[in-house]
Amino acid sequence: MSMLRTLKDRFRPILAELVGNEALDKVLDLIRPAQDARFGDYQANMAMALGKQLGRPPREVAAEIVARLQVDDLCEEPAVAGPGFINLRLREGALAARLHAAAEHERLAVPSADHARTYVLDYSAPNVAKPMHVGHIRSTVIGDALCRVLRFLGHRVESDNHLGDWGTQFGMILYGHKHFLDAAAYAENPVAELSRLYRHVRGLADADEAVGKAVLAETARLHAGDEENRRLWQEFMPVCLAEIERMYRRLGVRFDHTLGESFYQDRLPGLVDELTRRGLARQSEGALAVFLEGHESPMLVQKQDGAFLYATTDLATIRYRMETFHPDAVLYVVDHRQSLHFEKLFAVARKLGYADVELTHVSFGTVLGDDGRPFRTREGDIVGLESLLDEAVRRAGDVVAANDEAKPGGPELSPEQRQCVAETVGMGALKYADLAQNRTSDYVFSFDKMLAMNGNTGTYMQYAYARIRSIFRKGNVDAASLVGSGAKILLETPEERALGLQILRLGEAIDQVVADYRPNQLTSYLFDLAGCFTSFYEKHSVLKAESDALLQSRLLLCDLTARTIRQGLALLGIDVVEQM
Ligand code: ARG
Repeated sequence: MSMLRTLKDRFRPILAELVGNEALDKVLDLIRPAQDARFGDYQANMAMALGKQLGRPPREVAAEIVARLQVDDLCEEPAVAGPGFINLRLREGALAARLHAAAEHERLAVPSADHARTYVLDYSAPNVAKPMHVGHIRSTVIGDALCRVLRFLGHRVESDNHLGDWGTQFGMILYGHKHFLDAAAYAENPVAELSRLYRHVRGLADADEAVGKAVLAETARLHAGDEENRRLWQEFMPVCLAEIERMYRRLGVRFDHTLGESFYQDRLPGLVDELTRRGLARQSEGALAVFLEGHESPMLVQKQDGAFLYATTDLATIRYRMETFHPDAVLYVVDHRQSLHFEKLFAVARKLGYADVELTHVSFGTVLGDDGRPFRTREGDIVGLESLLDEAVRRAGDVVAANDEAKPGGPELSPEQRQCVAETVGMGALKYADLAQNRTSDYVFSFDKMLAMNGNTGTYMQYAYARIRSIFRKGNVDAASLVGSGAKILLETPEERALGLQILRLGEAIDQVVADYRPNQLTSYLFDLAGCFTSFYEKHSVLKAESDALLQSRLLLCDLTARTIRQGLALLGIDVVEQM
């Protein structure tokens, strides 16, 4: 169990008596890592609020809690400070014991969740038949990281790529295919030709209303079951899928299910009938709509011309997922512009009877260019995902080469190794730059920043890992044989103690990620860990330690740090390299 969870357990019975079970979790939440190491390692701040509530001086309440608290085995004598803070400082022995347990444990003794839940994760979900672009990175990378973290905690996760495979974009390429197809180009490279057609027709439709109408008519014919359009759709789909699949392979992302919008089409008429029968949907200006308290406009489920909407499909999707996976939670990793859609969707779902399931819109901000506007190429096009990945790897190659050439003993990597490292560093930089943001903020995309060897970047974290691994290479030490060899971890200096404590906080960082689905809690943690390691390494020699016992202890700390970085990055979908 993580230290924080253990401490909370010790406080629990005392606080339960003081505040009752209802308010307990909120009060327990006031036990936190200390902001300032001078005040200890953890701090409990509930006495102030409790004092007010109970009409007693907060310091007295704090003293009462401390008097009853049993943490002797873990902490030094707790201290009450200021208006009623309870400061807790861990005993060195308790820290060392936990570090030993982590060292011997494949997953670093990170505890599983108390209650395993079933999650459905809806992420990535590009509209196929148009090229994937920079905007798809966020959903894909955040969704993938959340899947990994939840699985690591022992939850069951069903990841589902809700492809936009039924929308207007098919009208565009159907229209394009019928009017402007370059058959030779299509035979040669269908994806390239389809995306050319898409762009061409979109341009025409923007300029000419008649083309816009014709495109909509093609989409309507597809939905109505028109034979030719269905046949063409069947022909386009594998091509479009192969294209996005290539991107996922490169990003190391995979889905348990890929059930796009088209999968649900047969279910829509029945669903709308039911909504009407149950009095949930009614006619409004010729359309069918579900009205919701607290919302000015209703959620439309069928248009006047009979067409169903994005929301209708999403409602059918909820039903399908409930019946198929019986989830405790469904998370939608989708950009913030769809907030209102999800608010209404969730409200309608609850009316339909799905009241107990957690439905969460894990929303995120926009990727911006230097100019503070959505990231585009110089020509004003949206930046394609593939060219972005290529560029990241190319630039990572430059960074890797420069770093290798600057090594005091001369370069260490062959051209092939450099290429391999560049792919890992490039992908890592791109993912980390996204995950390190508070997801709800917009962020400015910058290759230079994301590939910096200093600062909170993936490149820096990968470098920190490789640097530790090089200590073992240089000292000719096998890290694996160290663990379980009887070597003891000693935490006598402030730097060693701080590093040890930070290593043990991985589980807390992971719990924080899950608390409101923010992977940046984990990147911050890793960045702090690398900082603790640097302070330690600048102050103390490892291979030339003053004694054999210290050598062993420091090697163990190094190995634990490296494994923790590797594990943390793996949860973010980022690989490490042994050398860079
Ligand atoms: N295809 C949609 C888009 O590109 C995102 C779908 C998100 N998932 C969902 N269940 N609505 O905007």
